[in-house]
Amino acid sequence: MDKQKQVNRPIGIFDSGIGGVTVLKEILKELPHEKYIYYSDSKNIPYGDKSGKQIQNICSKIVEYFLERNCKAIVIACNTASANAVEFLRKKYAKVPIIAIEPAYKMVYDNSYNEETLIMATKGTIESERFNLLLQKYNNHKTYIKECVGLADKIEEGNEKEIIRLLTEEIGEYKGKVKNVVLGCTHYPLIQDKIEKIIGKVQFFNGAKGVATHLKEVLKNNNMQSTEKNQNIEFIDSSKNEQKKNRFFYFLECGNI
Ligand code: DGL
Repeated sequence: MDKQKQVNRPIGIFDSGIGGVTVLKEILKELPHEKYIYYSDSKNIPYGDKSGKQIQNICSKIVEYFLERNCKAIVIACNTASANAVEFLRKKYAKVPIIAIEPAYKMVYDNSYNEETLIMATKGTIESERFNLLLQKYNNHKTYIKECVGLADKIEEGNEKEIIRLLTEEIGEYKGKVKNVVLGCTHYPLIQDKIEKIIGKVQFFNGAKGVATHLKEVLKNNNMQSTEKNQNIEFIDSSKNEQKKNRFFYFLECGNI
């Protein structure tokens, strides 16, 4: 393949649903002239309740699909998949760069160490070894961890009433108690305003920007940045749900649920 074709190959990005749109949005700010294939695996949502092995198998199939589509890099826009499968995938598919997200707890360590902090994430993320190492490394000893079981699914469905009910139940008790909230699931930035309504004014921490700058660096270091000026975003949903596509592009252009 000539150099031109090589650098203008697409970037694959995936999540268990449309939540990864919050990562793609940040990526587009850094890398507006790339081709993207976004894979929403809504057939398998939630990843958060699955075992590490199940997540690794699911993610392998997605990576293989991206490789068939000749992707030059892959972004895991899902904390649960990153926490449970990134090392496995990097070993198995060593030839393609795989960029992963993680809960932005290091950002708290760097910027707001002294404040009470709440980390919201899925069960699969919180129980993972990777997350626990992160927690040990940057622990400010004023941190609460909340497994938000079912929340990503409700966000995916756009079920506002259920979202408010779940948030009230799960995080209502932290109102006035915490100053920092780490959004440890890529679906959660879509309901940031609702979280703030329940919990009061807080500072949010989100790993998406870090993923975008890291991806840009990886492409630059490997001389793989696109030379074309036209952006393209292809959306694929594993359950072939047309509604997902509309919601995805809606969120890509505007903001919250
Ligand atoms: N968006 C995914 C994450 O960042 C998870 C949702 C799920 O449980 O599938 O963790």
